[in-house]
Amino acid sequence: MSEAGATVPGGALDRGAAQIVSVGAYVPPRVMTNDELAQIVDTSDEWIYSHTGIKARHVAADDVAASDLAVEAARRALDDARINPGDVDLVLLATSTPDYPGLPATASIVQDRLGAERSGAMDLVAACSGFVYGLATASAFVDSGQAGTVLVVGAEVYSKIINWADRNTCVLFGDGAGAAVVCRGVGRGIRDSVLHSVGSGAASLYRPAGGSREPCGATTEPDRTKLHMDGRQVYGFAVQAIIDTVEELLSRNGLSIADVDHVVAHQANVRIIDAACRRAAYPQEKFFKNIREYANTSAASIPIALSEMQTRGLLCSGQLVVTVGFGSGLSYGGNLIEWI
Ligand code: UT7
Repeated sequence: MSEAGATVPGGALDRGAAQIVSVGAYVPPRVMTNDELAQIVDTSDEWIYSHTGIKARHVAADDVAASDLAVEAARRALDDARINPGDVDLVLLATSTPDYPGLPATASIVQDRLGAERSGAMDLVAACSGFVYGLATASAFVDSGQAGTVLVVGAEVYSKIINWADRNTCVLFGDGAGAAVVCRGVGRGIRDSVLHSVGSGAASLYRPAGGSREPCGATTEPDRTKLHMDGRQVYGFAVQAIIDTVEELLSRNGLSIADVDHVVAHQANVRIIDAACRRAAYPQEKFFKNIREYANTSAASIPIALSEMQTRGLLCSGQLVVTVGFGSGLSYGGNLIEWI
């Protein structure tokens, strides 16, 4: 950690002093429609849209990796906040599709390419909950005075790890990156975070081979290095994860859903969000949705959504925003943010 990052001026910090001062996003230019997918696997635009709300997804070129998307999103967030990369104390990169398996951390590649010379860098693996975990971690670093400026990035290239012959999974995902700059401020900011894991469900969404449990070798079936998912099990978990996260954040902070302006849930399937709203009697209009254009971008979906909301003028100072992430792990959690 840099000297400046370790000695944030101002004395004792109030709870919730960490603030999101800017957001940014980047998606690769290539758009793949449902109709194009229907030429690859036995599916249709009608099935995909009616079962998920997805119309298209962005797909990275063959030579593009997670760090390439992350750097673009991070630059946009840093530029928006007018923060010099040299002032960043920590790069936290949430990804399940790192440039290299395990090492080095993709965050280090991003740190170098940004010119964040004083910064530490680490990857955070919590799948589709990664950005929520990242904001919670950044908030803890900033609130404790360990860091003054943390860059939180979610970047994914699921196009590289999905089985393009499996219609159960390949229609669901897209590539992209989103970033947030978290700094110390006074008053408004990240007020609370909750993080959970139900590891007993790990095998319902995972890559069986390629890690230390089943290393890639001459006999490894190629499909086993790709994403495997029990869609129905994940669906049921996801609906309850949204409700449990929102309820926990609200009750811990003496709030009701009426106090919340926006809920930004991980964009996995509009039916998951709609089912949670029906079950918990939440107003649908508070839940932002943009899965139609991007599909499920895993750890990138929430910062891409926040960036789009910011660009569209939907986020106003003083508004209460609840984020909810859920996915492989099975992990879930959320943040309560008072927008600055
Ligand atoms: O970030 C978290 C990541 N994952 C998720 O959030 C996924 C959570 N799960 C889901 O969103 C849903 O379960 C899916 C979208 C994956 C599936 O929707 P579903 O309504 O639960 O469909 P299903 O699995 O019950 O399948 C219904 C039928 C099956 O055919 P049969 O057995 O009824 O003849 C599937 O084979 O739909 C078939 N099917 C498809 N048909 C056309 C499955 N995928 C496709 C497809 N195109 N792409």
